[in-house]
Amino acid sequence: MPESPIRKLVPFADKAKKNGIKVIHLNIGQPDIKTPKIALDAVKNNTLDVLAYGKTEGSFSYREKLALYYSKHNLAVATEDIIVTTGASEGLSFAVASIADIEDEIIVPEPFYANYSSFATAYGVKVVPVTSNIETNFELPSLEEFEKVITPKTKAILICNPNNPTGYLYSKEEIKSLAKLVLKHDLFLLVDEVYREFVYDGEEHYSVLQEAGISQHAIMIDSVSKRYSMCGARIGCIVTKNKELIKTVLKLSQARLCPPTYAQIACKAALDTPQSYFDDAVKEYVERRDILINELQKIENVTVFSPKGAFYCIVQLPIKDSDAFAQWLLENFNINGETVMVAPATGFYATEGLGKNQVRIAYVLNKESLTKAVMILKEALKVYKD
Ligand SMILES: Cc1ncc(COP(=O)(O)O)c(C=O)c1O
Repeated sequence: MPESPIRKLVPFADKAKKNGIKVIHLNIGQPDIKTPKIALDAVKNNTLDVLAYGKTEGSFSYREKLALYYSKHNLAVATEDIIVTTGASEGLSFAVASIADIEDEIIVPEPFYANYSSFATAYGVKVVPVTSNIETNFELPSLEEFEKVITPKTKAILICNPNNPTGYLYSKEEIKSLAKLVLKHDLFLLVDEVYREFVYDGEEHYSVLQEAGISQHAIMIDSVSKRYSMCGARIGCIVTKNKELIKTVLKLSQARLCPPTYAQIACKAALDTPQSYFDDAVKEYVERRDILINELQKIENVTVFSPKGAFYCIVQLPIKDSDAFAQWLLENFNINGETVMVAPATGFYATEGLGKNQVRIAYVLNKESLTKAVMILKEALKVYKD
């Protein structure tokens, strides 16, 4: 199993903290936005006598309300199209396990959310990368690049939209071109849409579920982790119109009995969160993004573009080894007792050698911390020697 590139530096961060250094975490996507109070209150105020097992596919009332939520967002989803999972993580694992046998292949544009490798590896499935580039803002690689790596073992194309780690928002045209490709080669189009609410600059998110004609090929993965800042609830879902796939996912789900009961109570209540909550969150993220990107772009030899969604960006730095640099920041550098933790981008690429001069930054901290963090990074780059 590959090691998490985001978590592997934690021992160095812990040591720095033990030595009295304050570490500003730019490395992890834990939002600091408050969880909706109605969700927390629903757990606090409930009157359960027994915290019992629930249904394998998730509570009916939660799935029913979730289907209504999707309908309001122009996605024609029925209750029976949804299986509630223990986070998007379990949803992705179950999806991979359901559509691919050992030694089958799933094509993923890189850089990609590092755990995709873990989910695939756990089921003996191979991730086949097609490379997207910082020079083109990480737009979708050409269809020829995908076709070059399609083999009889290819079972799916997996994308994350909006993207972690690049912040890229795939356009309607890009989704449509992938839809054509999966139909042509009879593949699944597996789309991780956990950041669907976080879309900026007046752009619109185009879901794989909106694409007509690929209902038997489309799988959408969702989560409450980022939407309601409920990462600890561990609730996500798989959505698909493909009944055979639902049947297979259900068998995997039966082995883990059910998703967490309390958390589903919170999630059902969270669905009543007013739109103003999202408007405020998006406004806050845009302000943070603008500060971060403006400050980063002022640093010599740094390349970064303004992401259109999610809350991450890939930053190219004048360094040769981002793993060594990230570790050095924690072990050897501070300004007035403060340093920063970044995620080396190498772990987001499957192709050996890529991402060595890139790091991923998450802008989930307040504006003051972000400004300070970029200042520390700037000073660090002045003295760092590869
Ligand atoms: C792209 C992406 N997919 C899935 C997940 C995991 O989501 P969950 O907390 O619902 O398991 C994350 C978490 O950061 C993510 O960034």
